[in-house]
Amino acid sequence: MTLLGKKILLTGASSGIGEALALALFDKGASLFLVARRADRLQALAQKTSANYLAMDITQPDFVSELEKKFGLHFDGLINNAGLALGRGPYSTSLLSDSERMLQVNVEAAFRLTHALLPKMLEQGGGDILNLCSIAGHWTYPGGAIYCATKHALWAFTKALREETCGKNLRVMQISPGMVESEFSEVRFKGDKDKAREVYQGMTPLSPADIARMIVFMLEQPRHVCIDELITMPTDQGSPTTVARRNT
Ligand SMILES: NC(=O)c1ccc[n+]([C@@H]2O[C@H](COP(=O)([O-])OP(=O)(O)OC[C@H]3O[C@@H](n4cnc5c(N)ncnc54)[C@H](OP(=O)(O)O)[C@@H]3O)[C@@H](O)[C@H]2O)c1
Repeated sequence: MTLLGKKILLTGASSGIGEALALALFDKGASLFLVARRADRLQALAQKTSANYLAMDITQPDFVSELEKKFGLHFDGLINNAGLALGRGPYSTSLLSDSERMLQVNVEAAFRLTHALLPKMLEQGGGDILNLCSIAGHWTYPGGAIYCATKHALWAFTKALREETCGKNLRVMQISPGMVESEFSEVRFKGDKDKAREVYQGMTPLSPADIARMIVFMLEQPRHVCIDELITMPTDQGSPTTVARRNT
């Protein structure tokens, strides 16, 4: 399927996987609508990709109405990519504010945006919804209780929607990566760059461009082919807690 001229809404486009995906989709001729909070980053990316953008927090109650005012709600594709992990310690000593934030961004905002766009896709006879899940939606690991819970929720939501919309020319898909080197770990460790670097020490992580390439592959399949889910990890990773590291 060609992505030429397809209207795609992509959240979390200001860094990492979202940024790489915007560049990859632009190369395929998609018409891009980018969302994230950092306006400077979005503006620079929009210049490179001829994209429209909305610099806004997707958890704001007026996010969907602002989106509708600016671009309408009719899109050929929705990519729920914005997401984050906060903290890596035991749940007993974690901050409730961190849990709330992960639930708001990874779960509630993605659900709400899908709720706004899905009826329009059905009205126009089809579309694609692709959610950025994670191997944390398949496994659990100590120190990741809430992040894993949010990705399990997104996994279940995606699977249920896929069944519910079967026969409506709607492809509901998800990609579940393991370790990808982006700003993800820096956000998780709240700006501690040394701790973030340690995550990838002695191993070769996936890059945002690797994930972007796989997403383009999923979207470009012929219309009758839906890759429900793609699970991908670095060759050096076997599970969230099994990572082969060379001595550094
Ligand atoms: N990196 C990994 O190892 C990995 C593995 C599996 C799955 N994932 C998932 O992949 C997705 C992308 O992560 P990444 O690795 O690319 O991390 P990243 O580089 O930190 O990118 C996260 C993106 O989400 C946006 N975002 C966060 N909160 C937002 C909010 N409230 N409103 C709007 N945008 C918001 C950020 O933009 P602003 O800060 O500008 O708002 C940024 O563009 C996430 O859903 C993550 O859970 C990542």
